[in-house]
Amino acid sequence: ISLKPYNTFGIDVKAAYLVEITKKEDLQTLFSDSELMKLNRLVIGGGSNVLFTQDFEGLIIKMGINFIQQHEVDATEVLVQAGAGVVWNDLVKYCVANGFTGIENLSLIPGSVGASPVQNIGAYGVEIKDVFESCEAFDIATGTFKIFTKEDCEFGYRDSIFKQRLKNKYIITSVSYKLSHQPNINTSYGAIEAELKTRGIVNPTIKDVSDVVSTIRVSKLPDPSTIGNAGSFFKNPIVKKEKVEELLVKFPDLVHYNVDKKNVKLAAGWLIEQCGWKGKVVGNTGTWKNQALVLVNHGGATGEEVFNFSDLIISSVANKFDVFLEREVNVI
Ligand code: EPU
Repeated sequence: ISLKPYNTFGIDVKAAYLVEITKKEDLQTLFSDSELMKLNRLVIGGGSNVLFTQDFEGLIIKMGINFIQQHEVDATEVLVQAGAGVVWNDLVKYCVANGFTGIENLSLIPGSVGASPVQNIGAYGVEIKDVFESCEAFDIATGTFKIFTKEDCEFGYRDSIFKQRLKNKYIITSVSYKLSHQPNINTSYGAIEAELKTRGIVNPTIKDVSDVVSTIRVSKLPDPSTIGNAGSFFKNPIVKKEKVEELLVKFPDLVHYNVDKKNVKLAAGWLIEQCGWKGKVVGNTGTWKNQALVLVNHGGATGEEVFNFSDLIISSVANKFDVFLEREVNVI
């Protein structure tokens, strides 16, 4: 089976087997098959955060559980629960249309609901952990389902327990988000403020915020349906304050954001651009012309080619800044 339609990078590798899960009980059936369970396994949602570097000699489990339902909590709050296979942006559109506030800043992020807590997706001043209520997940070892609260998930920057201690131990089947009926809009991110101003909008609705975020994303980020990519390829590195002070002497324009008293986050896209990589095309791969943090497949790139290119970027940023970029995508 070609995995090309199953990864937004559009890498043409093959998997030995692929199964789509459309209801949570399917997982119990699947995992009770002892022959299938001898295979290597990989769970995917929208395939928007993976880079395949070779054929996958095993079983791809594609999550296709597709439902959205809501329970009113009170006059101000609503719990929205969605199946792991729901396309993330479909959930955003549903919530915006119904006046449920909280995820409009996360408009147009590629991928699925099931993946949203795994790496605590975030953009434009909001992260999933800000609205996360709980998720249900299949315990591979026992064949039962477990509810994880926000505390259980140990969310961090693009991180959670599902990428750390519980990696490959649970499969998320649905996620509940606590959203608001009040338009508590978050426009603190500079780019949103600027675009609202350009449009002359003073009291934005959540629809306005969603539209503005979509416009910004479309202008900066390549559309995976035409140019293969997996969003930000690297994480924004977090470094010690002393290190930043040193760097600022040499690079006074260094883009940085304070995380806490000791740690500062750097903009990986800026570092990569300063090394001269922005918009560079190398073979069939390269960085995106409007956002150097995004690696792209210009057509026919192999995963290995993209991976080797990312190594080049890592070494050049390390040489110039003595800062080490960590990949955000899951390399298979
Ligand atoms: N910058 C450059 N050159 C570039 C790219 C960025 O100088 O080529 C500078 C920008 O001018 C800006 C700063 O770097 O001063 C930050 O850029 P931007 O606002 O585009 O955001 P980012 O830090 O590069 C992060 C997330 C994105 C998310 C945006 C918006 C990570 C790894 N990435 O990118 O998330 O959409 O913020 O909030 O945290 C993703 O995770 O896949 C993703 C796209």
